[in-house]
Amino acid sequence: MNRTAATTPRRSPHAGRNADVERVLIPEDRIARRVARLARQIERDFAGRDLVIVALLNGTVVFLADLIRHLSLPLRLDFIGVSTYGGSTRSGALTITKKLRLNLRGRDVLVVDDILDSGRTLRHVLARIRKLRPRRVRVCVLLEKKARRKVRVRADYVGFRIPDTFVVGYGLDVAERYRNLPFVGVLRSDCYPRA
Ligand code: IMP
Ligand code: MG
Repeated sequence: MNRTAATTPRRSPHAGRNADVERVLIPEDRIARRVARLARQIERDFAGRDLVIVALLNGTVVFLADLIRHLSLPLRLDFIGVSTYGGSTRSGALTITKKLRLNLRGRDVLVVDDILDSGRTLRHVLARIRKLRPRRVRVCVLLEKKARRKVRVRADYVGFRIPDTFVVGYGLDVAERYRNLPFVGVLRSDCYPRA
């Protein structure tokens, strides 16, 4: 008999990370319902168009995977890599870590990002995309923190408007961690990396 298995409590694979979460801000089921609704709106607005989705790496991976499975439009997917935060929650210099590959000229483009915070990242990406002469550009974000906007940029589709708190999960990270939490939550203050 394997005595260790019988006597040691089994830890859930999320236990370690969930213990770092102070509170769940948006639970999984609410996210799922909202993402499905966003997709229906996008489908209506882009019906009959040859859509190119441009997603920002890395924070969109979970949201994007769920969103596109609800879209029955013909679409192509491209990624742009933008790094804003040098491993902490403080805003840093903006660098392009992966360039676009698809030709966007004359296309209907939907830019997907995880969160609209100061707006600097999206403004920079939108300026780059517009230079490629697409027919139309729309922006979809999972989260928006209105209070923190520093530059003028608007999202056409917003999953949730949230207060000015740093959140993780459902793709969002702090120092590349916690992206795999299935909900959006707030960490315990002692779980942030020191600047
Ligand atoms: P912005 O350029 O200030 O709008 O920042 C956008 C980027 O900062 C997002 O794509 C995120 O990667 C990151 N970010 C902003 N707020 C949060 C947050 O609360 N949690 C995790 N990442 C965030
Ligand atoms: Mg990030």
